[in-house]
Amino acid sequence: MKLKQIVQATMAMTALMAVGTQVQAAEVEVLHYWTSGGEAKSVAELKKMMEAKGVAWKDFAVAGGGGENAMTALKARVIAGSAPTAAQIKGPSIQEWGKEGVLANIDAAALEGKWDANLPKVVSNIMKYQGHYVAAPVNVHRVNWLWVNPDVLKKAGAKTPGNWEEFFDAADKIKKAGMIAIAHGGQPWQDATVFESVALGVGGADFYKKAIVQLDPASLTGPTMIKTFDTLAKIKTYIDKDAAGRDWNLATAMVINGKAGMQFMGDWAKGEFTAAGKVAGKDFLCLSAPGTDKAFTFNIDSLTMFKVKDEQQKSQLTLASAVMSPEFQEVFNLNKGSIPARAGVSRAKFDSCAIKSMDDMEATSKSGGLVPSFAHGMAIDSAKAGAIQDVIAKFMNSSMTSQAAVQALAKAAKAK
Ligand code: BGC
Repeated sequence: MKLKQIVQATMAMTALMAVGTQVQAAEVEVLHYWTSGGEAKSVAELKKMMEAKGVAWKDFAVAGGGGENAMTALKARVIAGSAPTAAQIKGPSIQEWGKEGVLANIDAAALEGKWDANLPKVVSNIMKYQGHYVAAPVNVHRVNWLWVNPDVLKKAGAKTPGNWEEFFDAADKIKKAGMIAIAHGGQPWQDATVFESVALGVGGADFYKKAIVQLDPASLTGPTMIKTFDTLAKIKTYIDKDAAGRDWNLATAMVINGKAGMQFMGDWAKGEFTAAGKVAGKDFLCLSAPGTDKAFTFNIDSLTMFKVKDEQQKSQLTLASAVMSPEFQEVFNLNKGSIPARAGVSRAKFDSCAIKSMDDMEATSKSGGLVPSFAHGMAIDSAKAGAIQDVIAKFMNSSMTSQAAVQALAKAAKAK
């Protein structure tokens, strides 16, 4: 069932139901999927902050990287007539929920905290529905990273890869040395994460925008997209046979403990390195994925607010204000691997990967290299994103040709 139908059915049901499961006043219930080591540490900071303000935290955590399970749980809760206070919903999906009339207006918090002045437009636009704030941004994650264990490179006699040729050369050497070249988890969202970095690295930001954001049929089926799938096919040969179903943080752990050399993943992976006590630039390297150093795929986490009863609105606004506070944006993102979404947060405590991310975001926002992550729900609506993700997963798990994949991709881009 589509979101629209679900919500329509829900509204009808809710009218008939007694609202028995609503949260108490001075309590917030927050749906998220931050359950890995680094993620859990990050969200614990928000809980602590809310409790210090006298607001109880009801945790609604649903495991599953990329959030697909969490979104299913959210729909079920909305159907049951008991939406949480806030949920980790991102990008165009915020508009999809907004259209259903179930989101809360949090302009009061935004006005008080001067959000318009403190957020880049690319962030604040996503947080608003019809000109009103309905979501609070938590961070900016960059997706086009390659995480590397320098000891593995050294043992394999490989050099730090700066482009595709060097990347495959390093992968060959790591494989020959008896280690796993590319740590990966065979789950559709992880496949899509690798795919988008490869498309960006093979075709550049303009190609990415035309093909993956604008879904231009000629770009989706043309030679650059074929080359993207050819490159993906080559990458597949460096992934170990146990990858199917593996969680992303377990793949990151393989790089951390030197079982594998490299991983394509957004910088929530850095949260795992940090939680394991590893130091950026020494124990691990954060490189832009091959061919993507002039680009930045952004993925903005945000807590989207649902309509709540009058007595709970105060706690909801407290949550929104806490999320946007410089104190929270600092401590959360130090743990999460991302960078603050807002201006006015000191850089002092952030590591070299975060500083690179901050600088690159600024530079790419001027050069045109700043692009929304498709794999993380920032680029296109959920129906199309889901259909495209299915094609990529099929390609990763079968002997589908690149030619067949691009045709299927163009068809998926028309999904409604
Ligand atoms: C979210 C991150 C999360 C990651 C793994 C991404 O889509 O934006 O916050 O850490 O998925 O679950």
